[in-house]
Order: sequence, then structure tokens, then C-alpha cells
Amino acid sequence: MTTPPVCDYEGSDYQTSFWDQGGRQYEDRAEAIALKRLLPARGKLLLELGAGAGRNTPRYTGYERIVLLDYSRTQLQQARARLGDSPRYIYVAADIYKLPFIDALFDGATMIRTLHHMAEAPKALTQVRQVLTPGATFILEYANKLNLKAILRYWLGKQSWSPFTLEPVEFAALNFDFHPHAIRQWLAELGFSIEKTLTVSHFRIGALKRLLPAGFLAGLDGLIQPTGALFQVSPSVFLRAVTSPSSQALPAPETVLSLFRCPECGAQPLQDHGDHLSCPGCAQKWAFRDGIYDFREALK
Ligand SMILES: C[S@@+](CC[C@H](N)C(=O)[O-])C[C@H]1O[C@@H](n2cnc3c(N)ncnc32)[C@H](O)[C@@H]1O
Repeated sequence: MTTPPVCDYEGSDYQTSFWDQGGRQYEDRAEAIALKRLLPARGKLLLELGAGAGRNTPRYTGYERIVLLDYSRTQLQQARARLGDSPRYIYVAADIYKLPFIDALFDGATMIRTLHHMAEAPKALTQVRQVLTPGATFILEYANKLNLKAILRYWLGKQSWSPFTLEPVEFAALNFDFHPHAIRQWLAELGFSIEKTLTVSHFRIGALKRLLPAGFLAGLDGLIQPTGALFQVSPSVFLRAVTSPSSQALPAPETVLSLFRCPECGAQPLQDHGDHLSCPGCAQKWAFRDGIYDFREALK
């Protein structure tokens, strides 16, 4: 199966350079406010797509277990160093376009600052939909091409692409901004209903961030976030979507092994050999190393 290209964070110091030392306390706090408003109070099994170094993971307090999924092993190693080994966390290296999970598994999923890297966003969202249970909550963050700065730059002739058209814009290699209407359309086609939309990071302006304390700006941002229900012109948008409910309760998976299926042929259950899992269908082997299940490339 061929899949779209991946924006590879292997070996990246993204958490340190972008968040810890990159002057983004305001954005981080504004996102924390949005997540608090969107997350359900309780849940069983959450899939964090593009978890990175686990910056947001401690915020998912209501969920019993969390699967941190990222393409980059080094990001997951950083997350593991931050969060530790506990039955609550399962670390999985895999491609979002080829998820290694059985269908209808997770009652929650988050995808923060990750759709941003999807060259084929509908394909990625289809994968996410497939692994969600009926009545599951999906919290999605996306970068908004219809943001105020892009609109002004376009009107002033300083930007060639239009923020008003529905197609994504790739403003740097494998970095995409999306139109809110396109996102809503894709989610609706997959059977999601959007329950809440928040606009976030309204004050992402260097001079303002230098002038005013991060906590104060984030507080102001929090006051404005609910206007996202009416219009979206901020650089970042968070939303909560749900899948249609069902009266049938699905059995909860009993072991970590029973979460997985082969990302190549779809066979399940995989067989546990300690340092790797094997597929009963196509005989591919998938490594389990340093606490991380690795489904990116089969072992030779
Ligand atoms: C900008 S970081 C965001 C990390 C985290 N969500 C946060 O907000 O701090 C994007 C993450 O998505 C991951 N990623 C990008 N493309 C991916 C793919 N196709 N499958 C899995 N992870 C991917 C990258 O490795 C990176 O860790």
C-alpha cells in the first residue's frame, strides 16, 4: 500500500526549541484552556495522534489509558522520559495513514498540531474515524488558512494564495493550512457531528507577546475562544466532533496485544514474541523495543 509522505520529526528537538525555549508559553496555555473546554470528563481509551514529546498528554486526565502514537521514535522516547512507564500509557510508532489498530477501538482521540502535516487530510481523517467507537469524541486542532493575517496580506497583495478558497495551502514543505469549511465538510462526510468549535491563539503576534505576560494573553484568548462558534479567523482552530452513538456496548479490549492488527494485511490478533509481534496473516514482524511498539517498517 502506498501512503502519502510523512513530515519526519526523527531526531528533532521540537519540544525544547519550539515550546520550552521558543517563547510559546502563551500558545501552550491558550491550548490548555481550549482542551479543558473540549475534553469529556471521563473516558476509557484515548488515541493521541501525533503525540510528539507528550506535551499535551498530562492534560488528558479523564481517560483511563492513553495510546501515544507518533511516526518518530525519538519523539516517543522523549514522551516516555517525561511520562514514564505505566500501564496507563502505550507508546506506538506508526504512520497515521496506516494505523495498526482494530476497528471501533477508541472512545476518544486527539490530533493537535498534526493535521498540519497531512498532505492528504481526508485520508488521514478516514483512518481516525475507522478506529473510533460509536459515540466517541474526536478533538481536532487545525491550522486555519482563513486567518486574519493571511486575509490582510492577501488584500495588500503581499501573498499570492487566497485564504478564501477551500483547498489546503502548503506554505512550506509538508506544512498545510486548511479552510474551516473544508474541514467541516470532510468531518461530515465521515459521519462526525461537530459539537463545539473554539478559535485559539488570537494574539500570536511577537510584539504583543513580548509586551504582555503569557498568562494574561492566554486568559484574554480564553475569553474570545467561544466566538469560534460563529466565525474562525484565528491561526488555530480546535473542535470537538463526535461519532454517532449506538445502543450496543462494545467489549473493552483485555490486553495490549488485542488492540493491534497488522498495518500491512489487517490480520489479527498479532502474536507476542517478547521483543516483537508477528502477524498470522502475512508473517511480517513488528518490533517492540524500549517500551515502544514499532509499526513503521517490518523487521527483516
Ligand atoms: C508539530 S508536532 C505536534 C506534537 C504534539 N501534538 C504537540 O502539539 O506538542 C507534529 C507531530 O506529528 C508527527 N507526525 C507527522 N506526520 C505523521 C504521520 N504521518 N504519522 C504519525 N505521526 C506523524 C510528527 O512526528 C510530530 O511529532
